[in-house]
Amino acid sequence: MADKWWKKAVVYEIYCKSFYDSDGDGIGDLQGVISKLPMLKDLGINCIWFAPIYTSPQVDNGYDVADYQNIEPAYGNLEIFKKLLDKAHAMGIRIIMDMVLNHSSDEHRWFQESRKSKDNPYRNYYIWKEPKEDGSEPNNWGNYFKEGNGSMWTFDETTGEYYFHQYSAKMPDLNWEYEPLRREVYKMLNWWIDFGVDGFRLDVISRLKKSPGFPDSTQQPDPVTDKGCFVADRRMCTDIPGIHDFLQELNEEVFGKRGCFTVGEGAGINPDNALMYIAPERKELDSVYHFDLSSRSRYTITPEHFRTVQKKWAAVIEQGGWAVQYLSNHDSARQVSCYGSDGEYRTRSAKLLGTLIHTTPGIPFIYQGEEIGMTNVYFDSIEDYDCCYTLGDYDALVKNGVSPEDALRTVAPRSRDNARTPYQWTGADNAGFTTGKPWMKLNSRYTEINLEKDRASDDSVFAYYQKLTAMRKEHVAIIDGNLQFYVESDPQLLIYTRHCEDETLLVIANYSGDKARLILPDVLKKGQWKRILSNTEDKPVMSDRDELSPWEVEVYQML
Ligand code: GLC
Repeated sequence: MADKWWKKAVVYEIYCKSFYDSDGDGIGDLQGVISKLPMLKDLGINCIWFAPIYTSPQVDNGYDVADYQNIEPAYGNLEIFKKLLDKAHAMGIRIIMDMVLNHSSDEHRWFQESRKSKDNPYRNYYIWKEPKEDGSEPNNWGNYFKEGNGSMWTFDETTGEYYFHQYSAKMPDLNWEYEPLRREVYKMLNWWIDFGVDGFRLDVISRLKKSPGFPDSTQQPDPVTDKGCFVADRRMCTDIPGIHDFLQELNEEVFGKRGCFTVGEGAGINPDNALMYIAPERKELDSVYHFDLSSRSRYTITPEHFRTVQKKWAAVIEQGGWAVQYLSNHDSARQVSCYGSDGEYRTRSAKLLGTLIHTTPGIPFIYQGEEIGMTNVYFDSIEDYDCCYTLGDYDALVKNGVSPEDALRTVAPRSRDNARTPYQWTGADNAGFTTGKPWMKLNSRYTEINLEKDRASDDSVFAYYQKLTAMRKEHVAIIDGNLQFYVESDPQLLIYTRHCEDETLLVIANYSGDKARLILPDVLKKGQWKRILSNTEDKPVMSDRDELSPWEVEVYQML
């Protein structure tokens, strides 16, 4: 039986800036979140992950932290956050903070000091290197945002050296090799635990350690999307030997000692190396947020891919690790647009996708708006986009001769802004998000897709998600059951059971926009099954038919 609270959790990610604006400045805020806690309680979630809400110049919407121990003024202050925390706790909702330990903002006090002189006490909090003899960057690594000339190094006049940043030049990497920096970080994390938070989502945690000696990457630059001679070769800073020393020390000084929940954002963590990060006896992280199923660069998921990924991660879980289930977040496009269908079958496919992540092993993470089936946006001007990746990719394409129209068409479908448009509360002005001017344009479909509408119907995506979260509380097999797939070569059907000593559940899904022939394996025909969830109305139970509608899904319990 699952022993830890987080194994039974349903986590809801809040991107505060776009959630709910309580004071009319066009930016979502914590008071806004407080006013919506009852809705989250009704949805049935029991943990909130806050994307960064710390003081920040907002270059990357908060992932550029200027003060780890304060709240972004546009969102509120520590007092309001404390009130939110207490209210959430009183409602049985835990809170985990997004903790960005790989880099800070260049406006953080540590960096301001660090850049002053080579002998400043904070100099080694960051990574500084001398120019090559010809004055150029210390190596050929390219930043992921493809910002500026593309390099991960920015020259600083004051001391005549380059500093290192995997992302924006305004987000310098912290130097984890330097013990005083690590001590300072542990103090800060323990302060948050004293404050009352229940755990951390650890941003790009597998990237704290860099390749020793910072050697050039041997990868060739992509002629179209890379800039100049710099290559965005993520391998140089991902899952590098030595990363586990950092994680073990973090656990010893903070996570393990204080018993808080951790989920590591795990680029480069895969089923083969995952146990090194999450096996309980290694005392590092509790769970991993991996990119095998869904990621910013994945446009579709096939049943075959779904089965392969789920089987591999289920094996990791069986060996004592724990992972997360999700299909979208603030870094991706909207799941119903990518992996389902956002036309005629929007609600049905949104329900199917929700069912898949709520019935496979691991912790389901819902991203705000997913529970009402929010869809991608299609802005017709690059000016309306805000995401650093989108702007960097667009710029690189145009510089390489692609027409602005084609460049926009290329970057838009995967833009993180698809997921960052304001939450659609109602069909009224600005979708009820703000009484002011929203910081980002809304998705024009808000009169059709909004929470108010969903709450008025028993058949909505929201109502269905309520059933999913309730099902998790009632059915132990969802947490503890092993995973077994059937009809494994079928290109449309996903059929699987979750089985534990006390219960067997069966999921049957047509993961396609066409009808599917229902092939029920003999072994499943034998049992007596009770239907406990379905996304289509009034259909006979599966034993009495041989066809599934497009995007149909059903869950059965063995009697
Ligand atoms: C993570 C965050 C993303 C951010 C990046 C740099 O991937 O989820 O939003 O841009 O880290 O902090």
